[in-house]
Amino acid sequence: MCGIVGYIGKNNSKDILLDGLAELEYRGYDSAGIAILETDNIFHSKAVGKLQNLKEKTKDFQIDAFSIGIGHTRWATHGNPTELNAHPHLGEFSYVVHNGIIENYKEIKDSLIAEGVEFLSQTDTEVIVHLYEKNYKQSKDEFEAFKKTLDSLKGAYAILLITKTAQDKIFFAKNGSPMIIGTNSDELFFASSDAPLLGLANEVVYLKDDEYGYATQKEIKLFSNKTPMQIEKKPLVGDKISAQKGGFRFFMEKEIYEQSEVLSDCILGRALDKKVDFEELDENFFDGITHIKICACGTSYHSALATSYLFERVAKISTSVEIASEFRYKEPLLNHETLFIVISQSGETADTLEALKMAKNAGLKTLSICNVDNSSIVREADTSLLARAGIEKGVASTKAFATQVMVLWMLSLYIAEHKKIISKDELDSELKAIKHIPKVCVVKDTIHQKIRRLSKRYLHGHGFFFIGRDLFFPLALEGALKLKEISYLHAEGYPAGEMKHGPIALADANLFTVALMPKNLHYEKTKSNVEELSARDATILAISPLEFDLSDDFIKTTIQEHPMEEFFEMMVITQLLALEISIRLGNDVDMPRNLAKSVTVE
Ligand code: M6R
Repeated sequence: MCGIVGYIGKNNSKDILLDGLAELEYRGYDSAGIAILETDNIFHSKAVGKLQNLKEKTKDFQIDAFSIGIGHTRWATHGNPTELNAHPHLGEFSYVVHNGIIENYKEIKDSLIAEGVEFLSQTDTEVIVHLYEKNYKQSKDEFEAFKKTLDSLKGAYAILLITKTAQDKIFFAKNGSPMIIGTNSDELFFASSDAPLLGLANEVVYLKDDEYGYATQKEIKLFSNKTPMQIEKKPLVGDKISAQKGGFRFFMEKEIYEQSEVLSDCILGRALDKKVDFEELDENFFDGITHIKICACGTSYHSALATSYLFERVAKISTSVEIASEFRYKEPLLNHETLFIVISQSGETADTLEALKMAKNAGLKTLSICNVDNSSIVREADTSLLARAGIEKGVASTKAFATQVMVLWMLSLYIAEHKKIISKDELDSELKAIKHIPKVCVVKDTIHQKIRRLSKRYLHGHGFFFIGRDLFFPLALEGALKLKEISYLHAEGYPAGEMKHGPIALADANLFTVALMPKNLHYEKTKSNVEELSARDATILAISPLEFDLSDDFIKTTIQEHPMEEFFEMMVITQLLALEISIRLGNDVDMPRNLAKSVTVE
């Protein structure tokens, strides 16, 4: 996810911007840039890769006079990570940085191109600066032009704009993406989170959605809906690590809350109006493929297993799923009509990487779904689709899982379209559901509070069974893995219909069953399986949109139309349940004992 900084003052703006961007590195990025305006001179520089590259490029630039500046770290969503696509984007006399998505950028871009404007990048952001300059040329008033520009934008954004015609001002706007203003007696700062402001600013203003305005060294003019707003400054307190956690207790909690945003990034430019598109795949990618084999470990294995149901059901392509460490030594029979897909958050998991090499050596076409560009797995695979989850710090994977499932779901539709076996209506309704998922994953305060309260009842007992059918069986596996990883309590995921073939022998009041009971997929069958457990006095925590009288505890979900909407909603609930139980047990949620974020040993 992108990060933004800004500065107005007489100190070394270059170092302040670069240091600020370094504090935002945790958000993940693949390129960075800064622009500094000192009287009539604009200095700007961009670099792909680590911030060190930008530092190197800017090392000869010195500044010790009053200046205004903006900086940006970019996590590519629209257009590759190149210098041209990196921010700040420039017009003839203005520069802009942006975090978020301009949904209607294509229309704006097309109309500006028709008027003769030339674009340098493939990003949605560049329209902002050109539209601003067009408006400025008409009104000759910077703020009027900025407001008019905002009126034309649809989507989510945090924006900073500087322009040569207003050498002491930064224009800002926030709608959906974070933006904070920090102040001290003679400097003013902008940042995407508290972290870059610590040690520099004494007070901060947390901007709210739909707020916009401009700032000089000494004052902030803030508006919402054309009305001037009071500035509410708060003292800036805290340390850098807690600032990076953005007010959450643990990175894992923050990452659960980020899922809505990263899923928006994940589908951007892929789930289109009438079809799914992956710019990384050429048209003939699936020609001659009759089977898919997916190989992964841990949570990534669960995303594979869940979506294997979709590959067979929607894309009508036979699909098998393998645990990488098992696959390596089973002397598998591989044939050239198989597409070999590996899934990995880190891109460095040794077992998955070795399985990928085996498949390549056997001559199979390979595809990786990965969250880290340039990782070993991405470099090894023929083609890769990035999950776009941003850096995941919690060892227990959450948002990476969510984006993996999303990419694979979209891929199943892409194949179905390629094979011409999905009707237009079906595709429309799948795309509608996909676009609804970011909303589904917004964490509701009432649900989080409820789970926090419930969690105290689940700290003992002789184990947990997470149960579900169909797609919800792999989700049950994932729910159980999350819980055991961070709570150290024993938990198993099981197909609901399989309990009676053995595990039901364990049922008693101290066996906790977390039952995933979606309305849209085998509800009655799952319900019967849960009733069997309830009849044997197991303690039932049911998660369902439909009231269930036999449960001891009940988390009511929303009535949704599509099973995947229910899948994502229940995913968030199981993640929060694991989180709250572990917090009550006093565990280090982000760094659970014995586990590592990247497992590079066999
Ligand atoms: O980086 P990968 O996705 O390849 O990692 C695979 C597993 O090690 C990983 O998913 C592990 O299970 C996590 N701790 C899950 O929370």
